Amino acid sequence: MTDAKTSLFGLDPEACAALDAVMPAPRAPEQEDSLALSANRGDRARASFSELPAYKQVQVLNAMSKKMGVDVPFFSCHERMAKEYACIGGEEFLNYSTYDYLGLNGHPRVVEAAVKAIAQFGTSAGASRLVSGERPMHRELEGKLAAFYGTEAALVFVSGHATNVSTLATLMTPSDIIYHDALAHDSIVQGALLSGAQRCSYAHNDCAALEAVLEKTRSGRRRAIIATEGLFSMDGSIADLPRLITLKKAYNAFLMVDEAHALGVLGATGRGSREHFGAADGDVDIWMGTLSKTLCGCGGFIAGCRELIDVLRYKAPGFVYSVGMSPPLAAASSVALDLLLEEPHRVGRLAELSAFFLREARKRGLNTGYAEGYAVIPVIVGSSLVAGVLSAALFKRNINVMPIIFPVVEEGAARLRFFLSAVHSEANILKVLDIVVEELKKAEARAVAMREEDDA
Ligand SMILES: Cc1ncc(COP(=O)(O)O)c(C=O)c1O
Repeated sequence: MTDAKTSLFGLDPEACAALDAVMPAPRAPEQEDSLALSANRGDRARASFSELPAYKQVQVLNAMSKKMGVDVPFFSCHERMAKEYACIGGEEFLNYSTYDYLGLNGHPRVVEAAVKAIAQFGTSAGASRLVSGERPMHRELEGKLAAFYGTEAALVFVSGHATNVSTLATLMTPSDIIYHDALAHDSIVQGALLSGAQRCSYAHNDCAALEAVLEKTRSGRRRAIIATEGLFSMDGSIADLPRLITLKKAYNAFLMVDEAHALGVLGATGRGSREHFGAADGDVDIWMGTLSKTLCGCGGFIAGCRELIDVLRYKAPGFVYSVGMSPPLAAASSVALDLLLEEPHRVGRLAELSAFFLREARKRGLNTGYAEGYAVIPVIVGSSLVAGVLSAALFKRNINVMPIIFPVVEEGAARLRFFLSAVHSEANILKVLDIVVEELKKAEARAVAMREEDDA
C-alpha cells in the first residue's frame, strides 16, 4: 500500500509509512503500557506533536495538495448561509456540500424559535442536564422525536458522533458483540471499539454475510447489537431493514439504526427507514439520529423504550458528563421537525431532484456506486489524486463539492460526494453534471501525466 502511494504522489516514504501507521487496528492494552513506559524513560526534550502519526497524515494531505497544485479543499470559510448557492471569498458557488436536505436552515420559523429561546434562556444550558436541570425545549424536542419514531422516549445529546460512541460504549461490554456494516460511520466503529465488545464488520449491505457471522459467533457472546446506517452517508445506499429485523429476531440481538441521513429523506413523508420499509413499532430497538442535517441544529438523539433511555440518561458519559443542548439549538430542531411534518412536499421535491441527479449522472457515464437516488450521491473517480484535482477544478468553476479520499474511503473508491437538497434545481444539476464530465476527463489526463512524471 505504501509503495503505491509513494509512486502515486511522489511523497517521502516516511510520511507514507506514517499514513499507514494511523490506519491499523487499535493497540492492545499491553502495547499501550509499553508505550507509556518508554515515554516515561524517554527524552522529554524531544517530545513533539510533529512526531505524532496523525500529524504526519496531515502533512501527507498538504503534500498531496501541493503536488496537485491546488489548495487543500477543506475548511473553506463561508460568508452567508449555504443553500443552493454558497458565498466563499466573495464569490458565488453552486453548493452540493451541505446536509440541509429539506432547506430548513434559516427558515423564518426556525430562526424565530431560536431567537425566542435565546431571549428567554440565553445561549447555554449551563451544565449537564443531570445536575443543572432541563429547559422546556429539551423535553419538547425529545417528546416529538419519540412520537416521530413511535417509541416510548428519546434523549438528545450535544453531538451526533458522541451519541453513537457513548450509546454503544454504555450498552455493551467485553462479554458482548457488535456487528456493523463495513461502511458504517466512524462514530459506530469508535463506539464499538470503546465498548470493548467483540466487533464484527460484515460486507456492505450483505445480510447473507451477516447471517454467516451471526451463526458462527453469536452463541459465544452474552448480548449483541447489529448496527447499521439507514441511508449510508458516503454511498447513498439503503440498509435492508426487513432482513436485518428478521436476523436480529432470529439471533436475539438488538438492532440499532443510524438515521442521520435518512431522517427527512426516506419515506414518503420523511419519517426515514421506518416509513420507507413500513417497519412495525419495536422492530428497531435503538433509533439513532442527528439534529445536524435535516433538523438544521447540532447534536444527536436516541429513541427507544423507556428502559433504554433511562440507562443512557443516567449512565452515558456523553450525556451525563456533557453540557445540555444549547436552548436555541433544541428549539430550532424542534420547529424544523414540525416543518418536516407540516410540509411533506419538501421531502417529495428532494426525492424528485435526487432521482433526477442519479439518472442524469448515469446517463453521462458517471460511476455513482451504490447510490439509490436519495440525497447522497457519490461520483466515484477511482483515485484520491483524481478526486482532489477534480474538486479543485470544479471549485475554479464555482461549484462547491468535496472530495472524499483515502483513508476515509479505500483509494480505489475515492470520490466526490454530492448532497442534494430540496432547494436545488434541475437546471443547475444539468449544468453541474456537464461540467463534471468535462473536468473529469481533464483530471484523469492530469493524473496520468503526474504518475508518469513520478515514474520517470
Ligand atoms: C451516519 C452518521 N452518523 C453520525 C454522524 C455524526 O453526526 P454529527 O455530525 O451530527 O456529530 C454523522 C455525521 O455526519 C453521520 O454521517
